Amino acid sequence: MSIKVLSGKVFLLITGASRGIGRQIAISFGSMLEEGSHVVLLATNLNALKETAKNIATNVSIDTVNVDLSKPTKDEFHNIIMQSLKSRTPKQFDRIVIVHNVGSIGNISDYANDLTDVDSWRRYYDLNVFSPAILNGVIMKIFNEDTNTEKTIINITSLMAIEPKKGICCYSTGKAAREMFFRVFALENPDVDVLNYSPGPVQTDMFNELCNLVCDKETKTQFENLLTQKSVLSCEQTVNRLSSLLKDHKYKSGDHVDYYDEL
Ligand SMILES: NC(=O)c1ccc[n+]([C@@H]2O[C@H](COP(=O)([O-])OP(=O)(O)OC[C@H]3O[C@@H](n4cnc5c(N)ncnc54)[C@H](OP(=O)(O)O)[C@@H]3O)[C@@H](O)[C@H]2O)c1
Repeated sequence: MSIKVLSGKVFLLITGASRGIGRQIAISFGSMLEEGSHVVLLATNLNALKETAKNIATNVSIDTVNVDLSKPTKDEFHNIIMQSLKSRTPKQFDRIVIVHNVGSIGNISDYANDLTDVDSWRRYYDLNVFSPAILNGVIMKIFNEDTNTEKTIINITSLMAIEPKKGICCYSTGKAAREMFFRVFALENPDVDVLNYSPGPVQTDMFNELCNLVCDKETKTQFENLLTQKSVLSCEQTVNRLSSLLKDHKYKSGDHVDYYDEL
């Protein structure tokens, strides 16, 4: 598949690329890139990131960086990008594609009334909301100076950002806040293409965690039924859909588009 946003010399950065959906995005998108492109993969597990990199079927340069994205600081993110660019300059790239994929499920053992530990809330928001917002700002600053680079930002969101489910409070509020950040960002930056992609239920560690740990029986049954009915998607299926959405480009910048939406 040839996708315009992945053509030319692309700076591609993916958070949470060591496993699950992020790993598949790295493999699928990375393998479509042309010479002169540069890929940056972030997560905590360096060995797993290197495995992801090995599966990218292309000759482009790939940098794997182990970083705890739950400790977001502007300076650290800036250093990661600058060190990864090395002697390359932002001007060398025709496009940047940033995939804010990193995510965690948070506390799903307790109902909303019992989410009273402020440190737990803060830890969740650090990784899932503040870190993507800060990383995004840092990247925009680096690539806005003296360049006309085309920019595509993909936020991996969830149906739960717009639809409440019992027992999944922390995750849902985080997804809603993160999505709204990228919607405001899209309005303020009409030159940037922003997609909030909701990948559907996907067979990953996070999905298993959800089935195993969610406190609410009704929610648990709903997710387990998806498994027994074989309605859970593979990472490849959802990333193929994401690729088609980017290729056809029928969404408006900032839109929330779900795997199952007809576009
Ligand atoms: N699976 C689903 O059904 C589903 C549905 C809707 C939306 N989503 C969204 O899709 C995205 C990916 O989910 P997934 O299911 O692929 O999850 P996953 O399999 O649990 O993978 C999570 C990724 O995030 C990284 N990560 C976690 N904590 C990190 C930290 N502190 N610092 C750096 N990296 C960290 C993990 O890498 P390390 O362990 O190496 O750090 C891993 O690469 C998430 O935003 C999720 O909310 C998933």
